[in-house]
Amino acid sequence: MTESKGQGKIVKIFDTTLRDGEQSPGASMNVDEKIVIARQLEKLGVDVIEGGFAASSEGDFESVERIAREVKQPIVLSLARAQEGDIKKALKAVDKAKHPGIHIFIATSDIHMKHKLRMSRSEVLDAAVAAISYARKHLDYIEFSAEDASRSDWEFLVQVFAAAARAGAKTLNVPDTTGYAIPSDFGALVRYLVENTAGGKDVTWSAHCHNDLGLAVANSLAAVANGARQVECTINGIGERAGNTSLEEVVMSLTTRKDLFGLETGIVTEQIYPTCRLVSQITGIPIPINKPIVGHNAFAHEAGIHQDGVLKQKQTYEIMTPESIGITGNRLVMGKHSGRHAFGERLKELGFNLNQIDMNRAFLRFKELADKKKEIYDEDIETVVAEEILRLPGRPDRYELLYLNVNSSTHGVPSATVKLRVDGEETVNHATGDGIVDACYKAIAKITGSRFRLVRYSVKAITGGTDAQGEVSCLIEDGNMQVSGQGAHTDIITASALAYINALNKAEYRRHYRELVAKEGP
Ligand code: KIV
Ligand code: ZN
Repeated sequence: MTESKGQGKIVKIFDTTLRDGEQSPGASMNVDEKIVIARQLEKLGVDVIEGGFAASSEGDFESVERIAREVKQPIVLSLARAQEGDIKKALKAVDKAKHPGIHIFIATSDIHMKHKLRMSRSEVLDAAVAAISYARKHLDYIEFSAEDASRSDWEFLVQVFAAAARAGAKTLNVPDTTGYAIPSDFGALVRYLVENTAGGKDVTWSAHCHNDLGLAVANSLAAVANGARQVECTINGIGERAGNTSLEEVVMSLTTRKDLFGLETGIVTEQIYPTCRLVSQITGIPIPINKPIVGHNAFAHEAGIHQDGVLKQKQTYEIMTPESIGITGNRLVMGKHSGRHAFGERLKELGFNLNQIDMNRAFLRFKELADKKKEIYDEDIETVVAEEILRLPGRPDRYELLYLNVNSSTHGVPSATVKLRVDGEETVNHATGDGIVDACYKAIAKITGSRFRLVRYSVKAITGGTDAQGEVSCLIEDGNMQVSGQGAHTDIITASALAYINALNKAEYRRHYRELVAKEGP
């Protein structure tokens, strides 16, 4: 295995869920949601958090700034183009971080330079050096990325990376921006860069892969085998188009095959499952049931021969344990008679530190649920918290569901009557539709005047049994605004209505925030 000097046996984990992950269609998160995820990433033990792209929007600037204040262990970075304006914004956003950093990028492939940047090779090289040198005057930790590296000329890459290292970049990142690479050629590229770049043995080499051919994890591992000591990834592999390298897959590959790689990460693997669920709940992007590591079926043995083997000796068919990634086995935690104290303690164990007001709200929801559902599991509690607490922190909901009545039969026309509280006033309306969810959403749209179109809807059962809570995720769209909503309830139609109303409330929050920024600045 190729190794560059001083990089040792540790592979750093750079998480970009809040930047590249957020570029996943429909994954946009508000600032408070990003803070909750950033805190969990810190608990997970990631080395670097890319909090956003400060110059891209006021919202991104605020996210990076707040994450920088909140998070103490990891380096907090903002992405920036190789332009002074971007770098100034990024520097300002990470100013209060305990470990601040900046991630500067510019494209190096002929196709990007010619058509997108309209710059020559020497102009690109100069821009990279000027940007790094400028940033270096203000802070220590700089990562440099050669965008579209996997389709760039290798000799030109060597020149650009050498100049970047000379100008002060500590980490050199090799992105497979379009997900074009194949493990053998990506590994060879990384090895070539490590061995031929002047100063390349004194920096950390990093891989940033996209999953267009389903090879992001494989390419990242090939990079590591050839000298990279940082992998850039996202939780659940979310991201632009087909997504990025999945953090949980890359970390568990390195952990499970330590015999082969001989390397370690600082990830607390038991925090993987809670983190993946949290990100899924907040973004509304469900985890596919067959997703490696954290999918519902990842540890389910269906075939008789497999079950028999696992019962006799787990290792016959299990290469890692569910416990090692934090799956506690649907642990039954409480029921109707559990008190506030026990509930609070369990929340802490699950990683939620709520203030008194949020705690009261969550406890009330928990009690309501316990009246409907005999046994409450960890997943139910996480959902209650996500539902109640993560919806619109610090701001009351504009819309609240008060009453819902639906009618459906094999021959009749499905209909729904919905009563909402809107800005404190109760309003009721009625609609028919193709199905009861459709009727219900039409009735809500009549009341709220919503012109949003439903673009994605999914329902899944949390835990087992006929009294399980249904968790509904929806994504709605109006013009260029896309918002996701989540709702959970023992009745899936009510969960569907709650999800839609949650999305409408988030849209209101976003509009309100934009108006505020337009008036007062970020
Ligand atoms: O995919 C990519 O090239 C990126 C860079 C900004 C690192 O996300
Ligand atoms: Zn990317």
